[in-house]
Amino acid sequence: MAKNSSFFVLTLCVIGVFLYACQEKLVETQARTTNTEQHRPQFHFSPAEHWMNDPNGMVYYEGEYHLFYQHYPDSSVWGPMHWGHAVSTDLVHWEHLPIALYPDSLGFIFSGSAVIDWNNTSGFGKDGKPPMVAMFTLHNRIKEKAGQNDFETQGIAYSNDRGRTWTKFSGNPVIANMNNERDFRDPKVVWVESSKQWVVAIATGNHIGFWGSSDLKKWSHLSDFGEEYGVHSAGAWECPDLFPINVDGTGETKWGLFVNINPGGPNGGSATQYFIGSFDGKTFTLDPDFAADVPKGRGIWLDEGKDNYASVTWSDVPKSDGRRLFTGWMSNWEYANVVPTTVWRNASTLPRSLTLVKTEAGYRFLSQPVKELEKLRGKSCEIPATQISGSLDLSEKLGFTPSRSELILEFDLINADGTNLGVELSNSKGEYYRIGYNSAKNQFYSDRTKAGNHSFSPDKFATSIHVAPRVSRDQTLRLHLFFDVASAELFADNGATVMTELYFPSEEYNQVKLFAEGGNPLPVKGTVYQIQRIWK
Ligand code: FRU
Repeated sequence: MAKNSSFFVLTLCVIGVFLYACQEKLVETQARTTNTEQHRPQFHFSPAEHWMNDPNGMVYYEGEYHLFYQHYPDSSVWGPMHWGHAVSTDLVHWEHLPIALYPDSLGFIFSGSAVIDWNNTSGFGKDGKPPMVAMFTLHNRIKEKAGQNDFETQGIAYSNDRGRTWTKFSGNPVIANMNNERDFRDPKVVWVESSKQWVVAIATGNHIGFWGSSDLKKWSHLSDFGEEYGVHSAGAWECPDLFPINVDGTGETKWGLFVNINPGGPNGGSATQYFIGSFDGKTFTLDPDFAADVPKGRGIWLDEGKDNYASVTWSDVPKSDGRRLFTGWMSNWEYANVVPTTVWRNASTLPRSLTLVKTEAGYRFLSQPVKELEKLRGKSCEIPATQISGSLDLSEKLGFTPSRSELILEFDLINADGTNLGVELSNSKGEYYRIGYNSAKNQFYSDRTKAGNHSFSPDKFATSIHVAPRVSRDQTLRLHLFFDVASAELFADNGATVMTELYFPSEEYNQVKLFAEGGNPLPVKGTVYQIQRIWK
């Protein structure tokens, strides 16, 4: 008995020292960043230091949005993966927390998801409170190096203290790699009410596999989707997300399926395609019109810019809120490891809200920046209705830096025959970034070819202008833009076309102009807001 209790005390001490060390490391880390380094995003989430890729385990619980993320705490290039952790009460301001999950003997902790197990189906709950359960891929580098194919399996862990500390399930892995798939990862769990069970979507080579479970521990294979549809490329499908969503303005529910792909994106490298259909608890079936639009080789994209990857949605957002919220990794595997930042590397996109609408072309998603971002608005500058021929310089008029700004613009395309219109940011070094719309081609575009430093990736980062077709036919063209030191996010036509793009000017942009070139004078009006920093 005495032996047992001293063992217990010793164990507690070890855990205590470990937690203290984690907390100390975090404090140290935060002290090492001023959050004002060159190119550091000022209103996007980025890790205090070192490497970050995909957002993981996004879940809402007791007033907090959790953002876990692929993290390598020892370097600013990709390495043995951990789950970094941050929380926010408003999706805008983030608090860094200690690392949530560390690699173990079963492998690195690759991407995955988290849910609240409200009915304690797993039995991991404590004191009448539901556990937070995470499911992730265990990537076994030793097996991989030894030439085995079954090095990716799925594991789970749970937390009884709002995601602060985690216990890995002793029965891991919970889904073995039965078919020797080299790419078998990124489990995204959802509770399916119609069949009253958990379903997990897993990227399995060239398709998505679905598994079902009553307790999050024992899983059985349900079905596969996708070999015959959408964009496939030399790379694997990654980071799926299956979720129900109402068709805007109706009582109808559809199921959305995000599938990330790398490479194969519309402008090269990594991107998120999506599918709309139904899910009967077992099988995902494409909506017939949607199926016709995505034969093998053709994709419909969530974001057509180069820098939004691994987008997945938050789980357990309260019904009273009702939104389907998501964020992505604001980078691209073509150059993510070499972008010219110090201290930390990479950031998340702005959090977005998804709406499913029925258009002439069939069901499509609209993505909008979350309304909480309005809190960050500082000074503003109205652009009263005016005609632009050539350009309209706003730099003096603003009275704040455009390098951190939000623009809401409406162009009337009535006479836009061949007009090239948009917004240009520039600096005294002659570097400039342009984002806009080319009416002759009916395309939005992002031009970072002269935006600053791209020597870190001479053949990938800025060799071409990135384009996206316009789908809306409205005569009014709405551009909703966010610029944050090193990134642009365009939500055009109420989110029907979205482009997220990085740039690295050698000096922050301090000039901004609107332009309408090569056609008739164009009516425009709008507002520009200064955006405040989220870091103290
Ligand atoms: C996507 C991805 C995932 C994987 C993770 C590894 O960016 O390749 O498929 O789980 O990153 O960090």
